[in-house]
Amino acid sequence: MHNIKFFSGENIPLEMHKVRMVQKANLPPVEDRLKSMEDAGFNTFLLRHSEVFLDMLTDSGANAMSENQYAAMLRTDDSYAGSETFYRLEEVLKDIFGTQYFLPAHQGRACENILSQTLVRPGSVALMNYHFTTTMAHIIRNGGSVEEIIVDEGIKVKSSEPFKGNIDIGKLNEAIERLGKENICFVRIEMGTNLVGGQPVSLGNMREVSQICRKEGIPLICDASLLADNIYFIKMREAEYKNAEIKDIAREIASLMDVTYFSARKLGAARGGGMIMSDHELFVKMRELIPLYEGFLTYGGMSTREMEAIAVGLIETMDMDVISQRPIFIEAMCNELLEKGVPVVTPPGGLGCHVDAMEFCSHIPQEEFPAGALAAALFIASGVRGMERGTLSEARNADGSQPLAAMELVRLAFPKRVFTLSQIKYTADRLVWLHKNRGLIGGLEFVEEPTVLRFFFGRLKPVDNWPEKLAKKFREDFGESL
Ligand code: F0G
Repeated sequence: MHNIKFFSGENIPLEMHKVRMVQKANLPPVEDRLKSMEDAGFNTFLLRHSEVFLDMLTDSGANAMSENQYAAMLRTDDSYAGSETFYRLEEVLKDIFGTQYFLPAHQGRACENILSQTLVRPGSVALMNYHFTTTMAHIIRNGGSVEEIIVDEGIKVKSSEPFKGNIDIGKLNEAIERLGKENICFVRIEMGTNLVGGQPVSLGNMREVSQICRKEGIPLICDASLLADNIYFIKMREAEYKNAEIKDIAREIASLMDVTYFSARKLGAARGGGMIMSDHELFVKMRELIPLYEGFLTYGGMSTREMEAIAVGLIETMDMDVISQRPIFIEAMCNELLEKGVPVVTPPGGLGCHVDAMEFCSHIPQEEFPAGALAAALFIASGVRGMERGTLSEARNADGSQPLAAMELVRLAFPKRVFTLSQIKYTADRLVWLHKNRGLIGGLEFVEEPTVLRFFFGRLKPVDNWPEKLAKKFREDFGESL
């Protein structure tokens, strides 16, 4: 809980939930971890979960669900058309966000497909605080391109700016002037900006962007996948909203947007997605594509059990105990790492702890994927699976050249309410050891490189035998310990 003080003066994040169902965890010895990493082509996406101790790859679909969500999953209406489950979810969305229409989709990127097919014209530009991998891939597939107009602080690893996800209003106005409003397919604001370290957007900033978009007639899209973290930061860091109801903040955000879409693998803590809006014309246009790509309008590719869980999950998200748990755990881990000299993105954001591989592995050139190498090294050292968020996650330019990412991060995602404080401390401990031995980490190179979203299933190899040396050093330093 964010506001319980300990008599000892220690700042310990306290869980406001009880663990009542568990999954056994398995920590294989370092030699097995090395072998698993080799078999996975040094890509953490290709590990099997049975080889992983703490899975911090993502929170997507992996957040802990509540007893009420599980209970709701028993009461479903599986009707193909006109399912009561759909109407229940639609009602919850209307009640929370105050919007008129809901289009279901099987996950976040399915919404991006439909949005892009509807709004992106060849040659048009989507302006956004920052891209997300799947968002950008869909825009490009539809002939558009992406321009990022995040505030300069957003891509600085170390900062004290509370809203590093904000759109730079000067850059927005400049882009509209330069490109012409007719060439901008939409402006997109991503809540809890994923690829720059889960950094929030202020409500004040959203209001300003919305005013400009409405004046110019440019559609404004909100990616609300990481809305829960973002609302927590609005309450904590934007004075005007300190005492505001979570629901009122959610409603105000939706009222500023033309379309709000979300991955319900994140928001709502189940598995699915959807789009909400009040604009009838946009609704009708996008509705046509739902039966084509997703399924009938009253399930959109989702299982009705998941839809029931999403409805309850959304209601439960309107609670400070629920939305504060992850950010305060992330902050605790970041602070512990910073104290020991391990570089992380500051201020701590939502979604996860983001380790700065550019500094951690400053001896590895960006062409050899320092963040990918660090993610592999951390797995060998700990059995913790993180995700590369750097150059490896970038797509090649049309001419085949390799763009270098602005940041090289290893994201250690915190699925909501899944890990305990001792597991977080273990992860920090192994990172500190790795930092002391960082000179042993070397680069990676591609062996198999897919053309689209290559980070998902591309295979790599180390530039030399550094992984073996690292595993050997671990054994020397930790003796019999796993
Ligand atoms: N937008 C954001 C901000 C996301 O973080 C994600 C997914 C999506 C859209 C796509 O949603 O996975 O349901 O299709 N992020 C996951 C992650 C994959 O690990 O950060 P999806």
